[in-house]
Amino acid sequence: MNAHPATRPAAAPRLDAAGVRDHPLCGPLDRWPAEYRGPHRLSHTGWLDFTSRLERREEVAAVRSAVLPNRRVLDVGGGTGELTRAIAAQLGHCTTVEPHRSRVATLRESAETGGIGTIEILPGHAESLPFSDASFDAVLASWILPYVDDIERSVAELARVCDPAHPEAKVVLIGGSADNELVSILNESCLTLVGEDHDHQGYLLATAAQALSRHGFGDFALHRTEAALHFPEPDPEERVRAAASTLVNFWFEDHPRSEELRTAIAPSVRRHFARRPHAIGDQGVVLIARPTPGSTG
Ligand SMILES: C[S@@+](CC[C@H](N)C(=O)[O-])C[C@H]1O[C@@H](n2cnc3c(N)ncnc32)[C@H](O)[C@@H]1O
Repeated sequence: MNAHPATRPAAAPRLDAAGVRDHPLCGPLDRWPAEYRGPHRLSHTGWLDFTSRLERREEVAAVRSAVLPNRRVLDVGGGTGELTRAIAAQLGHCTTVEPHRSRVATLRESAETGGIGTIEILPGHAESLPFSDASFDAVLASWILPYVDDIERSVAELARVCDPAHPEAKVVLIGGSADNELVSILNESCLTLVGEDHDHQGYLLATAAQALSRHGFGDFALHRTEAALHFPEPDPEERVRAAASTLVNFWFEDHPRSEELRTAIAPSVRRHFARRPHAIGDQGVVLIARPTPGSTG
């Protein structure tokens, strides 16, 4: 099933931005979009349903391992805070910036839970981070690239607030890998109906890598992580309906054609479950960008 076994971060070869663009994890290269398709609007309740089915221990472990030697960590677009909490629990503290009001409230509630270190939560956007230059030694932006309005500006901000002179300075991005099953199903079944260009997670990561490189973080390592949405429903058709709703609601819950989309996606989901009966993969790429050698004097 796993065509691209995850490699340990330490074993990943170092690449420049062109190496990221050409990396098989950032494919499929034959479907490279001409330009940024614009942000998806992540539905709030749809995303909560999605996260309740998501198992991503490997991704959480990869983030914890990446920031282990760091002290001042910023998690941009922290969402409901799974990674923010994991970092705070490990390092004693984490700062997060999140634009969505309900997610900020959820983050605040979870930050009050004892025993996980302190979490500083600020409302805000990646495009304009409320910090002075070099405020952090590691900056994480996990699964936010499909949702920002301006990738170039967001990435410039991630680099600006990361201190390149710190020996463990890094910007960590997470996005979908080329074999991401849920993105493939959504691309295959929904985009004609909603009139959108296909989603290409590799394009987003490679575009971000080019921008990071221009802002002094041009030394990259990539590795793949396994994650999946789980559908334990025993009845096959009930399971297809549950998966069709979860996937459509994630991106298109408020779309006027959402009911049609749930019907349209069902055959792809059925075909997928014939191969992998109870899970849809949300395979990721963890991209670690360090300062370009020689760039910090
Ligand atoms: C799929 S969630 C990922 C949440 C979290 N990083 C994680 O990996 O669990 C995407 C998050 O990006 C946030 N987001 C959307 N637009 C953003 C922007 N312009 N700047 C920062 N975050 C943004 C959303 O509100 C949402 O919380």
